[in-house]
Parts: sequence; C-alpha cells; structure tokens
Amino acid sequence: MTITTQALFETEAAVARNGVGKPGLLHPVRVTGLGVAVPPARLTNADLEQMVDTSDEWIVTRTGIRERRIAAPEVATSDLALAAARAAIADAGIPVSEIDLLIVATITPDHLFPATACLVQAGLGLPGIPAFDLSAGCSGLAYALDQAWHGLAAGAYRNALVIGADTLSRIVDFSDRRTAVLFGDGAAALVLHRGEPGEDAGILASHLGADGRGGSLLILPAGGSRKPASHATVAAREHFLRMNGQEVFKFAVRILEESTRQVLAKAGYSPADLDLFVPHQANIRIIEAARERLGLPPERVVVNVDRFGNTSAASIGLALAEARERGRLRPGALVALTGFGTGLTWGSILLRWTKTENDGGQK
Ligand code: UT7
Repeated sequence: MTITTQALFETEAAVARNGVGKPGLLHPVRVTGLGVAVPPARLTNADLEQMVDTSDEWIVTRTGIRERRIAAPEVATSDLALAAARAAIADAGIPVSEIDLLIVATITPDHLFPATACLVQAGLGLPGIPAFDLSAGCSGLAYALDQAWHGLAAGAYRNALVIGADTLSRIVDFSDRRTAVLFGDGAAALVLHRGEPGEDAGILASHLGADGRGGSLLILPAGGSRKPASHATVAAREHFLRMNGQEVFKFAVRILEESTRQVLAKAGYSPADLDLFVPHQANIRIIEAARERLGLPPERVVVNVDRFGNTSAASIGLALAEARERGRLRPGALVALTGFGTGLTWGSILLRWTKTENDGGQK
C-alpha cells in the first residue's frame, strides 16, 4: 500500500494538537554512558557479488554501503546487546547495580519469548529490575530513549540502560539481491541518568510517531501467531524479511526531515541550530536527501552506513558512538537522533551532549 504525504501530515497535525511530548517533567535527564558492540566478521560487496546477481558499483551507487558486520552463528542479539551494555555501564563509571530500568529495542530477539531484555538482565546479574523489549524497528532506539527519559524525568528510576540491538542477518534472504545487500548486525547501549531539578538537561525533546497502514511495506511474514512456522512457510521463504524498497525510501526521506524539524521545534530550535544530525543509517541517498531538505552542511551529519549497512535498532547509537570517538561531540553540542522503520514508525530525540569524560580518541 502507499502512504500519501498528505496522510502523514494529518498524523503529524493530530500529534501536535494533542500536545504529546510536553509532560510536566520534574527531573533533568542526561546521557552518562555510551557503548557499542559489532561482530568482527565483515561481509563486503565483493563477497555479495559471489552470492547474488549484484555488483559493488550498484550497491555503492544506490545505497552507499561497502561492507557490513555479520554475527557468527553462535552469537545472538542478546550477546551483542550484553557486550554493548557492559561497555556503556563502564563508560558511565557506575556499578552495574545502579541500573534500575532496562529496555532492549529489537526486532530480532533471541526468541519470541522470553524477552531479550531479560536475557541481558540475567547476563548483567541484575535480578529484580524491570526489563522489557520494545519493537519499533529501526526507530526502536529513539522509542526506547523516549520511554526511559519519561520514566526517569518523572522520578520513577535513577539510571536506565537503553539498548538498540539487532542481528538482521538472521532474517535476511541472502538469495534476494533487493534486500541481501542492505543489512548488518550490531548493538548500541546508552545509560541515562536522572539529575536533580535545576541541573542542566541532556535530553530536551522527543518526537515519536507511527502509521500502521504501512505495516506491509517492511514485514517478516511468518513465524508469529498470524502465520506460525511450518514446512510451507519455510518453503516460501516467509521467515525472511520482505520490503517494498521504493515506498519505504519515499517515506524515509520525508519523515527524516519532518520528524527532525518537529523535535527541534518542540524545544524552540530550527535545523540551523543543530550541531550534529545523527540519522538512521539505511541508505546514503536517504541521508543526503534529508540533509539537503534540512539545509545542513555535510560536516554536521554523521554517516557510517558505508561500513555497517543498516543495523536497525543499533544504527543511530553506532553512529553517535562513532561521532564521539572522532571528537565530533563537544560538550554542549545540540544533537538530533532520528530513526524510521517498520511499523511504519519514526522517532527523534533532541539532546545536548553533556558527557565530557571519554569523549574523543577512545574505543
Ligand atoms: O530501515 C528502514 C529499512 N529500509 C530502507 O530504508 C530501504 C529504503 N529503500 C532503499 O534504500 C532503496 O529503495 C533500495 C536500495 C532498496 C533499492 O534502490 P532503488 O534505487 O529504489 O532500486 P529499485 O528497487 O528501483 O530497483 C532498480 C533496479 C531493479 O531492476 P529493474 O527492475 O530496473 O531491471 C532491481 O531489480 O535495480 C535492481 N536491483 C539490483 N541490482 C543489482 C535491486 N537490487 C539490486 C542489487 N544489485 N542488489
């Protein structure tokens, strides 16, 4: 099905009318830890040329991707999530026991149940705290950050561990050239800390949305309650993701711009105020189109899709971590994280980078 631009604008207008995103926030919340984990194995375009009818030239021109990381057979989403979580907690400089909320955004959980968050929780040795998965595709990290932010700001929690982790390689059909070239595996984790009233806020605004009418545009057809796994579903390769690339492309370009403008407006800013734009890394052409629409110079946009492909819920976290590693996140920088994905969903987080230790030259 096709989502019209007009329909999506109507959705946006409804969101704006309802005043969503402006609760009475009591506590400032800031990022105090950031960690990532990617598998060491690289799948290059040359490798893919041996697997499907494609070429390095086509992949680079149409997507900007040169290689992606692929998890070893014995590694699942929770393993990457746990490694990223440990790195983020170490980066925050707090004992693991200080974490009191755990959210994992993923669409490739280890199992349908139990939640991957519970597996990570067990791995960290943190029994008792709430732990749950959140399914919002490539917008998952933005969604999870929004939920943790509100929980902390309301005073319900003190330190939240928010993880975006996916092993899309497990649900990609490596005989389908339309999707095989796009995706990679990875995990990113952030520790959010509740400050005291009056302290500087890190997270300034969020903007989330969804339009379920586009649900069939990017879907894993079988393996759930609608179509349980059977010989027939396996034979039809319905346990691999299906995507209408062109429709998702059009949606992505429009929503990247729109959601970023909305989150900036909520905090009284415009695109010109942005120091760093961290968009979901799906396709360089989508990122470039959104960058131009927002009027941003290339040096204010983070791009690593060339080396990791589309890592789904990990994507904006991996890009943020790389920006920090390269010294592009100075304290006080105004940063927008914007994702879009299956659902259809979209989500933006606007923050001031407040963390100073470990910024630049590490990891
Ligand atoms: O996280 C959100 C998830 N997804 C996305 O953000 C994806 C959004 N969409 C896209 O990034 C792009 O639509 C794709 C990269 C998926 C496809 O690029 P496109 O420029 O939209 O290509 P297309 O689908 O219009 O296909 C053009 C041609 C077709 O051949 P014909 O019919 O013109 O002969 C395809 O069969 O390119 C062909 N093609 C390929 N050729 C070589 C499709 N995939 C490949 C390939 N190698 N890997």
